[in-house]
Amino acid sequence: MNTTSWENRLCYGDCLTILQDMPPESVDLIYLDPPFNSNRDYNAIYKDETGRPLPDQIEAFCDSWALDAVRERAIRDMPILMREAGVEDELAEFWRAWPNALRKTQPRLLAYLSYMTERLLSMRRLLKPTGSIYLHCDPTASHYLKIIMDAVFGHGNFLNEIIWSYRTGGVSKHWFGRKHDVLLYYARSKGSHVFHVAKEKSYNRDNKPYRFKGVEEFQDAEGKWYTMASMRDVWELNAIGRSSKERLGYATQKPLALLERIIKASSNEGDLVLDPFCGCATTIEAAHRLGRRWVGIDIAIHAIKRVAAVRLQDRLGLKDGIDFVIEGVPHSLEGARDLWRRDPYHFQKWAVEQVDGFVTARKAADGGIDGRLYFDTGGKQLESMLLEVKGGANVGIGVVRDLRGVLEREGVPMAGLILLEEPAQRKERNFQQEMAQAGDLEVNGVLYPRMQMLSVAEILAGKRFRTPSVARGRGEPQPNLSLS
Ligand SMILES: C[S@@+](CC[C@H](N)C(=O)[O-])C[C@H]1O[C@@H](n2cnc3c(N)ncnc32)[C@H](O)[C@@H]1O
Repeated sequence: MNTTSWENRLCYGDCLTILQDMPPESVDLIYLDPPFNSNRDYNAIYKDETGRPLPDQIEAFCDSWALDAVRERAIRDMPILMREAGVEDELAEFWRAWPNALRKTQPRLLAYLSYMTERLLSMRRLLKPTGSIYLHCDPTASHYLKIIMDAVFGHGNFLNEIIWSYRTGGVSKHWFGRKHDVLLYYARSKGSHVFHVAKEKSYNRDNKPYRFKGVEEFQDAEGKWYTMASMRDVWELNAIGRSSKERLGYATQKPLALLERIIKASSNEGDLVLDPFCGCATTIEAAHRLGRRWVGIDIAIHAIKRVAAVRLQDRLGLKDGIDFVIEGVPHSLEGARDLWRRDPYHFQKWAVEQVDGFVTARKAADGGIDGRLYFDTGGKQLESMLLEVKGGANVGIGVVRDLRGVLEREGVPMAGLILLEEPAQRKERNFQQEMAQAGDLEVNGVLYPRMQMLSVAEILAGKRFRTPSVARGRGEPQPNLSLS
């Protein structure tokens, strides 16, 4: 396969960066299902097997939704960014009005809307003139997102607000059951866009099968006759429930039927389908089954490596490196060095996640710690190992001493140091003594060194920190992913 072209790729990273690398007007169809309420989404995916949520200080999907100085600047510059992207001046002016309205009332929403606008502008650049985009959201923010979509893609290119209605999950006793999502469907250029009419069965006002003889009739398995009519914008499709055969355990997984419907309607065989928030790769599986080329992006390494890639292998028989490529995940020491040079933050994140750790929120007052690895000692709460990642070549004993200081200061049971390069002094006595002086943690009669060190070469060879049982993400694949 041609691995230099943008097709059949799973990319690990922030979609904003990756979208900027893709060539303009190269994509036929974009479906995006971004996270919204990050705390809920994040903990839903990364709860440990006992069901206990992980503590708050881990980095949520969208740490950037906090209204910090960086976000404030992005909000201030948004009208300029929009104009540069070709958005009409008047529409770009929205971005002057609503920061004032939302800054005090809903600051997180404001940060989220600017995060989304930046990414939607990049997606606009990628769509071919015949292309279209479906933004999947829910009523918490759909009304704001529609205004942004009107501005970014042009209100004249609006095609549908699709209501996806389902019945799974609980219902509140205090309001009507919230049982629908919203899909905002826009063309890059209305009239030039690809659209294949889908049909559905017709019903009369009493909800009985409707048949108008001679007009595209259809008989179902029970022998009932219907007239087939063009599909409406209200879709009743089952969501992924507990007993669903498709279920992978990825909390925000969407049903294949939903994606198949979208892809069939808005693309042709051989077209390129992009999902910039691909999660467990539902869009990718649907696109591949329908003979489309695809690109999937996700910021969570668990999603790309442990769920999406495994899904493609188990359900479609696709092999990593042969039928598709995974981008952004180093497989060798040289690859890790390259990532460090290009993007030190992403390198740290990769290293932390590689040992099943969680990246610590950049904003949390966590004294320079890059991540934490959570484990269970049988107590009421999960315990943690602090993780520090060092990418430079000359890591001396001072780093070990500093980490030991943090270990004592934080009062946590363990600390782990991850080094890109194997330190020359590692085998020296004083280096080892410094580590050993931190002592051991005893759990159920087993001793675990409180301070441990791993080089990236060791991690790539499969070595891990020694801790009592680790709390891993729930979104990991089940042993058998195949559909029955
Ligand atoms: C709602 S889920 C998508 C679920 C997906 N539709 C499926 O069926 O599995 C949102 C996904 O976006 C990812 N994500 C969050 N922020 C991201 C970003 N900036 N770039 C790429 N992916 C991101 C999360 O890791 C998560 O997997």
